[in-house]
Amino acid sequence: MRLLPLIVDTDTGSDDAVALLLAAAGGLGDVRAVTTVAGNVPLATGTRNALISLQAAGRGDVPVHPGCERPMTRPLSTAQQVHGHDGMGDIGLPDPERAARPEHAVDVLLDHPRRHPGELTLVTLGPLTNLAVALLRDRDLLGRYRHVYCMAGAADMHGNISATAEFNVWADPEAARVVLERATPEQVTWIGWDASRKDAVMTPADQLRLEQLGTPMATFAHRVNRTVAEWARDVTGLAGYDLPDPLAMAVALRPELVLEQERAHVGVSLADDTRGQLIVDRRRSAPAPNVTLVRRVDEHGFKELLFNTCALEGQ
Ligand code: RIB
Ligand code: CA
Repeated sequence: MRLLPLIVDTDTGSDDAVALLLAAAGGLGDVRAVTTVAGNVPLATGTRNALISLQAAGRGDVPVHPGCERPMTRPLSTAQQVHGHDGMGDIGLPDPERAARPEHAVDVLLDHPRRHPGELTLVTLGPLTNLAVALLRDRDLLGRYRHVYCMAGAADMHGNISATAEFNVWADPEAARVVLERATPEQVTWIGWDASRKDAVMTPADQLRLEQLGTPMATFAHRVNRTVAEWARDVTGLAGYDLPDPLAMAVALRPELVLEQERAHVGVSLADDTRGQLIVDRRRSAPAPNVTLVRRVDEHGFKELLFNTCALEGQ
């Protein structure tokens, strides 16, 4: 079966790390490059985590390109209280064997689809800063990709970083607005925290199953999510920690896992008290839809992809 050519943009925290395992070792994706962006953790830390995660997937050869070290207009606000100071559960992971590449992430996001028009799938797992800056240089960029999937937003206004906002959009709402202003539902799909909260929660039984697989990737995936498990217990009140980025990656790799989606016109609030909140206009008089919103995903299918990937002994 032909692998799906991928570019992954990530602010590599613990759930991004698991998404990178799915992309690089799941047998469905061909990761051509990884670009990093500040978000969960500062840029240098996220870049280190991306290198470590690709190495854990047996794909230390995949080039990693650092990008924007802060949001477009706002100061950086990380989520280290969620993922740990190092973004990976603070378990003392050793340094990666390889270094990042010198080409800037924005240049990579621009150049690859120009050289391979219509061939590449872009999956963004963090704040949309890199993609937005690339769009300011090439307003037609989204259409040069085969499709763009973003882990972004909360379509039901049930937030994780605030009452109504999801972290990736909250961290850089101006960047999210730039993407939404140029998106079409045929080109761009957003998988929000509402889907993750419902269909990607790792219950204690799931966590035990992952840990008991005992393979290097399963142990890695289990251990790096240690801190986020504690945050879920104390803050979100979910039955376990959720995996938003792996869910978005699973949708990109296996679109048939989508159970419910809608096309709508989506905007984003920049106001202080509703920063990052999505403004989903479903009125008949609404402007034309600009994005496809995934609302529900096949939880069993997602978790089977996750467990089957982590059960592999790696390359
Ligand atoms: O809101 C969840 C998103 O924010 C995920 O991408 C997580 O890694 C953090 O970046
Ligand atoms: Ca992320």
